Amino acid sequence: MSNSPLFSGKKIVLGVGGGIAAYKSVELMRRLVDAGAFVSPVLTEASLRFVGEVTFSALGSERARVSLWDEDDPIPHTRLAQQADLIVLAPATADLIARYAAGIADDLLTTTLIATKAPVVVVAAMHTEMWQHPSVVENIAILRGRGVIVIEPESGRLAGGDVGVGRLASAERVISAIEELFAVEGRRVLAGKRVLVTAGGTREAIDPVRFIGNRSSGKQGIAFARTALDFGAEVTLVTTVPVPEGSGVDVVQVESAQEMFEAVSKVSGKCDLVVMAAAVADFRCKEISPTKIKKGRGVPQVLLEPTPDILAHLGSVKPENQVLIGFAAETGELEAEARRKLKDKNADFIVANNVLEGDAGFAVDTNRVTLVYDDSAMALELADKKDIAKKVLSFVAEWAQKKGVWTV
Ligand code: CTP
Repeated sequence: MSNSPLFSGKKIVLGVGGGIAAYKSVELMRRLVDAGAFVSPVLTEASLRFVGEVTFSALGSERARVSLWDEDDPIPHTRLAQQADLIVLAPATADLIARYAAGIADDLLTTTLIATKAPVVVVAAMHTEMWQHPSVVENIAILRGRGVIVIEPESGRLAGGDVGVGRLASAERVISAIEELFAVEGRRVLAGKRVLVTAGGTREAIDPVRFIGNRSSGKQGIAFARTALDFGAEVTLVTTVPVPEGSGVDVVQVESAQEMFEAVSKVSGKCDLVVMAAAVADFRCKEISPTKIKKGRGVPQVLLEPTPDILAHLGSVKPENQVLIGFAAETGELEAEARRKLKDKNADFIVANNVLEGDAGFAVDTNRVTLVYDDSAMALELADKKDIAKKVLSFVAEWAQKKGVWTV
């Protein structure tokens, strides 16, 4: 691959783990350098059993490093970590993945990983049995939860003549994943903006053990928060579902509609964009029983009262330079209902979806939404929730600039 504007001048730390696929990362490094990136190779001690430091020094943009205790650079990990635009682990062995997931920092590569704010791409390679081991599966899920991009191994011939899933992904696949990452970052359409996102379904207590809840998983809201962060915004996420720490988003954990209302009210006035993706309960118990309601006392009468409508409140106090996005989970009359909510709640956009569709809405990873705004409606194709968030936020940012809601 020849010089590419996406890679040009990008500082990439290439971390090499101790697996047979380490020899393939030489080729990956050469391609990244050819594309214009500045590649700093960092090798683990174990990788040196498979490849030589000299090879990486000769083909990298600077000499390869292995040790934390380098005489001419007293704190190499902080320099590498702070300056990196991206860290790529290739191959990422089961051991390296486990150390990274657990936050163990006992060599130059793992300390660099813990010290960085740059995105990290993990290109896994190991024997099939190891890849499928519950500990590896859990560690991969932990890393994905923190926003790490994981490129899964490919199927094929493995060391020792075995065949199965485990081979390091091709350099083409790794490079196209990095390209996509840089392209998204290149579209920093929310740079300098403050964004508030709500996610998850609220829980309204009946007694100390029971609550009124709903089926929202929070996935779409969390995807909006992550995407807003990727697009350069400063993000507050008010959520009822737990989100791993260290994702770069300011997380406020809440449970009920009232708690969400209070948390949102604290920050909303300062925000350029509010995304009300949470499924807020419309009703709560007028009185919460302080003790568990016992069956023996007969069928209880639970008296409900309305919760505050957070979106409607935000719409009524909306600053001039704020864009307000609401959601509408519908089971019929999608567009008409969304338009009614747009008007009644003074929102700028309603992201509407039909929750009766199996591949859209609650708990699944995909969504099919219609964006209702002004006098228009735009149906987006079925896509990953992260892609939906990207499309909606890109569109909204452009709309806000054109309309003059955002002047910078
Ligand atoms: N919403 C809110 N506070 C509430 C209820 C809903 O902020 N108490 C927000 C949701 O976060 C969503 C939008 O309002 O962005 C629409 O929610 P939805 O439940 O679809 O609409 P409702 O207002 O409850 O209307 P309906 O019951 O008629 O569907």
